[in-house]
Amino acid sequence: MNKALRKAVIAGNWKMNKTRPEAKELVEAIKPLVADAGCEVVACVPFTNLETVLDAVKGSNIKVGAENCHFEKSGAFTGEISADMLAEMGVEYVIIGHSERRQYFGETDETVNKRTRAALAAGLKVILCVGEMLADRENGITEELVSLQTKIALKGVTAEELKNVIIAYEPVWAIGTGKTATAEQANEVCAVIRNVIGKLYGKEAADGITIQYGGSMNAKNAAELVAQPDVDGGLIGGASLKAPDFAAIVEAATRG
Ligand code: 13P
Repeated sequence: MNKALRKAVIAGNWKMNKTRPEAKELVEAIKPLVADAGCEVVACVPFTNLETVLDAVKGSNIKVGAENCHFEKSGAFTGEISADMLAEMGVEYVIIGHSERRQYFGETDETVNKRTRAALAAGLKVILCVGEMLADRENGITEELVSLQTKIALKGVTAEELKNVIIAYEPVWAIGTGKTATAEQANEVCAVIRNVIGKLYGKEAADGITIQYGGSMNAKNAAELVAQPDVDGGLIGGASLKAPDFAAIVEAATRG
């Protein structure tokens, strides 16, 4: 597996943070710090910030993503946002299946699959999140669980569509807890996911797909994580809200 063949992607997941003026301020601060990045840089922001951030990143190397989308094209789904609505705005990425959606908003592997397919059909790039809970790890079922999540999420996704999919391995016990997976643990599960992709889509697809780690990644631990052979960048929560920290992670991924 040649890591050099793959694109490293550092994506910020702002979660439910930042008003529009605050969003503009953060992006303006990040822009000059990542201008020479040797990896893809993405800011996934709340729906209300999309227009502000799309405007602010014009002429820069920062790509913009949303944090979720609905699976239907339109209709009576109060409070939801469709993939077409995002694509029409010029949004390029969307996070699907984040563990917070699964834990707090009833997201299941089936709805993750439906959302993934809808987003891909609309021409969006998907950052697909998978990951085990602490109890799963303690029960020794991490590999099986993450493999199942990956397989179900990608049901019906063609090899051509897969080129627009990034997978983010985010162990739930490491999210927002300050407990990072060790570099070895992160690499081990990313390799398992790559193996699943290989079985489903073949070696070329497995070699080419970007697989990120996420969960308490920060300016200090990023270098070791992104240097792992099967870790192609990161999905960053808390540290993506601080421009210098996010930039340091981008710098670490640039060095590889
Ligand atoms: P933290 O980096 O805050 O742990 O969040 C990770 C995450 O959930 C990114 O999607």
